[in-house]
Parts: sequence; structure tokens; C-alpha cells
Amino acid sequence: MALRTIRIQGDPVLTKKCREITEITPKIRELIGDMLETMYDANGVGLAGPQVGVLRRLVVIDIGDGPIVMINPRILETEGEQTGDEGCLSLPGKAGCVTRPNYVKARAYDENMEEFEIEGTELLARAICHELDHLDGHMYTEKVEGALHEVTYEEEK
Ligand code: NI
Repeated sequence: MALRTIRIQGDPVLTKKCREITEITPKIRELIGDMLETMYDANGVGLAGPQVGVLRRLVVIDIGDGPIVMINPRILETEGEQTGDEGCLSLPGKAGCVTRPNYVKARAYDENMEEFEIEGTELLARAICHELDHLDGHMYTEKVEGALHEVTYEEEK
């Protein structure tokens, strides 16, 4: 596994629509491992293909409960609303207020191309919506209410 370079907003790759993955090739398997490693290294809770320059429908998420790999994900249901700060590894040091559903049910394939459904509320619902937007070339800044603000992260002890 290896760290990949995280693309920063302004890079055109972040505005493109991604293609579906049809089979798990060694290259896709390597990409999944690299994306997880890159996300953990950057202390992120999610990362999508375009953020490492790969226009495929693949996201990884970990809100602290273990890694979730979602291939060709789609949202089946949403419910409610939550409004709160959101950030993105493609826009380091910034955050902004975004309203998202408070509940999301999604379907995707895992790293073995087994189909699964996932339900999430709060942070997980937010992360799923945020990462899936990347697959269609969208960033949270298009949905932000008010101005972006600077964020500083406390050093981990
Ligand atoms: Ni993001």
C-alpha cells in the first residue's frame, strides 16, 4: 500500500463524473488499500476516488467505527435534516456549514463485489452524502451556507 496525493479544490479532476467499477482487479484492490491508508494518514473520515485523481465510483469512509468501502454506491432513502460544519481533505484547513439529511440508507458493493446496504445517521449520513457527491464532481462548498471558516486541528496526544 502507498499514500496517494490528495487533489486540492481547483484541480479539474474534482469536477468530473466518475465511471462505475465492473470488477475487482488487482489495480482496484490496490486503490482501495491506498485510499484507506491515505484517508487515515490525513485524519479524514472519508475519501472518494477523484480526490486521489481516479475517476471511478469508489469511496472509503471511517467515522471511527471501522472502514467502510463503497463501490458504485447509491442512496436509496433519506430522512430528516442536520445542519453543521463540514470539511474536506481537498480543502484543508477550511470548514463550512452544510445541511444534509440526518438519515441515509444506501446500497453499494464491498471490496469483494458483494452487494450490501448501509444505514447511517448524523456523521455517517453526512459522510455518505459528502463522499457520494464527489463521484459526480461536486464539493460541499457548492452547498455551504454562509462563509467558509478556518479550522485548526489540535495535535493528537
Ligand atoms: Ni470531500
